[in-house]
Amino acid sequence: MSDHALELLSISCTFHSKDNPGQRYTAVADTTLRIKAGEFVSVVGPTGCGKSTLLNVGAGLLEPSSGTVKVFGQTLAGINTRAGYMFQTEALMPWRSAIDNVMVGLQYRGVPDAQAREQAEAWLSRVGLSGFGDRYPHQLSGGMRKRVALAQTLVLDPDIILMDEPFSALDIQTRQLMENEVLDLWNAKKKAVLFITHDLDEAIAMSDRVVVLSAGPATHPIGEFAIDLARPRDVAEVRTQPRFVELHTQIWEVLRDEVLKGYAQQLKKAA
Ligand SMILES: Nc1ncnc2c1ncn2[C@@H]1O[C@H](COP(=O)(O)OP(=O)(O)OP(=O)(O)O)[C@@H](O)[C@H]1O
Ligand SMILES: [Mg+2]
Repeated sequence: MSDHALELLSISCTFHSKDNPGQRYTAVADTTLRIKAGEFVSVVGPTGCGKSTLLNVGAGLLEPSSGTVKVFGQTLAGINTRAGYMFQTEALMPWRSAIDNVMVGLQYRGVPDAQAREQAEAWLSRVGLSGFGDRYPHQLSGGMRKRVALAQTLVLDPDIILMDEPFSALDIQTRQLMENEVLDLWNAKKKAVLFITHDLDEAIAMSDRVVVLSAGPATHPIGEFAIDLARPRDVAEVRTQPRFVELHTQIWEVLRDEVLKGYAQQLKKAA
């Protein structure tokens, strides 16, 4: 068996323009990314470069124009059932209470209601929300909704966790709390994580490895950095370590120009 949980091999993604079907846009070009079982990998890159596209490919939600996805050594066809996915946008069902949102995936899998409820309650309490199960999403704060989404993903005990800028909408304190929670949960279970962010501090603080993507079009990895900071880590404390600052400087050197290119392109698109 492969010691890689997820392999994106020579992935390219070309989209047709909705307004002008003859026009094509290559978002991702010839990208290879491998994540070992138990490894925490972050992908950083400028806005609009193709991060969510890559994650969608890994989740099996988007078929690449070319390239192969392997999951524990097996070629993926269709949805990646070994993966849990935390979306960039809010994905809770507003008509279901928090507990019902956490239970839904288990119910789809055919777990009996009583057992599903018990597991969902355990996860709600693990993310600090015991007693909030009967609240609906609109009765929870943004940070609480993210916790519910986290419980919803982790209750299924996926071997691969895909997270797309899960905390970018949160204030800095809530964000750091959530980051530490994710690290604690990951430490306990050591699943493969592919974490997308455009926040370099977050990427370094959380990960074993940081991959930098170029600005689009034809996004591809342009740098890869092993993060050799000791674990367990506290995301706020680790930022003050000299090694963190050193890594940050090295990676930012590669990322900076791409971020500037990314912004320039967005302005051009908007004009
Ligand atoms: N279904 C689609 N049809 C056409 N173009 C698309 C489609 N999905 C993504 N794109 C384009 O591909 C590029 C990459 O999009 P993607 O959402 O992957 O970027 P991103 O890196 O996740 O950005 P952000 O950091 O803002 O979330 C963008 O230019 C986007 O407009
Ligand atoms: Mg995105």
